[in-house]
Amino acid sequence: MKDGYLDFANSPFGAKLINALGLPKPLQLERYQAGQPVITGSVLVGGGEQSSLLEALAVFFKSVGAQTLAHDKLPQWVSVANKAGLTTGRWSLNGEKGEKVKVLVFDASGMTDSTQSDALYWFFHDAARSLLPCGRVVVLGRPPEECISPRQATIQRALEGLTRSLGKELKKGCTAQLVYVSEGAEAQLESTLRFLLSPRSAYVSGQVVRVRKPVGSPQQPADWSQALAGKKVLVTGASRGIGAAIAEVMAREGATVIALDVPQAQAGLDEVAKKIGGTALALDIGVPEAPKKLVDAALAQGGWDVIVHNAGITRDKTIANMKEHLWQQVVNVNLSTQERINDAMVASGALKSGGRIVCVSSISGIAGNMGQTNYAVSKAGVIGMVQSQAPILAEKGITINAVAPGFIETQMTAAIPFAIREAGRRMNSMSQGGQPVDVAEAICWFANPASSGITGNVIRVCGQSLIGA
Ligand SMILES: NC(=O)c1ccc[n+]([C@@H]2O[C@H](COP(=O)([O-])OP(=O)(O)OC[C@H]3O[C@@H](n4cnc5c(N)ncnc54)[C@H](O)[C@@H]3O)[C@@H](O)[C@H]2O)c1
Repeated sequence: MKDGYLDFANSPFGAKLINALGLPKPLQLERYQAGQPVITGSVLVGGGEQSSLLEALAVFFKSVGAQTLAHDKLPQWVSVANKAGLTTGRWSLNGEKGEKVKVLVFDASGMTDSTQSDALYWFFHDAARSLLPCGRVVVLGRPPEECISPRQATIQRALEGLTRSLGKELKKGCTAQLVYVSEGAEAQLESTLRFLLSPRSAYVSGQVVRVRKPVGSPQQPADWSQALAGKKVLVTGASRGIGAAIAEVMAREGATVIALDVPQAQAGLDEVAKKIGGTALALDIGVPEAPKKLVDAALAQGGWDVIVHNAGITRDKTIANMKEHLWQQVVNVNLSTQERINDAMVASGALKSGGRIVCVSSISGIAGNMGQTNYAVSKAGVIGMVQSQAPILAEKGITINAVAPGFIETQMTAAIPFAIREAGRRMNSMSQGGQPVDVAEAICWFANPASSGITGNVIRVCGQSLIGA
């Protein structure tokens, strides 16, 4: 659905009026265009004591052809970067601030005590005003649960407060994330940084990502712009909305897409499949025979590589007014079918080893929502499934992750009454709703063959919504 206020706020007259009235000022977010570079501007690099991820960062920036600059307090970046063959220089000289940059990256992995937090202050105090619109901030740390001392775990956990606050302060479409990298997982960073530092993550902010040692054997795409080439991907609920966008983005990345939806949605499904050169599969995933039908279809094609559980329904009523069948329908379609399909696909080998499962949860499953007890149970259950299955599926080289969308402009949200819809749209750090493509890009990052170090993650695509934050 079109957001008229967003267009108005970006017109010359609208911008003046909105400034004068002090109203929220959403910016047209930059979104990924096929063929564009990962980072469209310079990168300022900072770090705390004993930063341990600088070499991994240099390898990444070299791979994406980025131009980097060293903050005053991290002069050693120049030699690390030069050694990796990167063009680099110092950002500030004689106390003068340097040029505007598109990305701020701070390596906090070596910080072991809260008394070292000043390094964070100096870097972000100096650089905050130098970040260009739709800029990106990533802070890298070590997972607190893997730290060897309580003091180290404490300062590492403290990084969450910093990044979440930066996401709220920076405005102008900028995002801020925290990436915890396990010891030994340094080489798994690339797919995550490619996502978080590019316009692909336009509507993702204030998130905490855990990058771990690889599940199965790590794979590097030969061509990052066709990362899913040769992969067969099932997308459920693909006839419209977020599912159609997922199918399109997967196809853009080179995948062969099997687009599934209920038989009643055949017309829309055929249109999507035709547009992306995929196949249409009309099937109600809620029926008991669905898992077997999917296993048979996958095995007939030599197995599938990725399953995206996007199909979902709402049947909103307060629990006192809700009929039992409305509860059962929602829990069945949104949660139990995913469990049954995963079990059948994994047990039969129809989902290949090295496969990816990506689920669609919701911020309702994190925060709860009035009139959505059934929906919130199903979406919180998806999070439980992802977290409990991740270590089990890792033994088969399969990853499982979820996205939790906030307010996304689709037919589902167009049906919300005006006042509630406007509140849902604006109550986030971007002051606007997300687009289906924003959810699709996050799902593609999880599905990437190079994302073998990412499992058990639940990432919100919500513009850092205040709901459940
Ligand atoms: N739109 C949002 O703001 C938002 C926010 C949070 C989460 N989500 C989740 O994102 C997913 C997609 O949402 P959307 O807004 O695109 O919704 P949508 O209603 O536009 O699309 C959902 C699709 O799922 C299909 N589907 C439903 N039941 C099915 C079944 N039994 N078998 C096969 N297909 C079935 C529908 O036919 C439909 O095409 C859902 O899981 C939804 O809960 C959406």
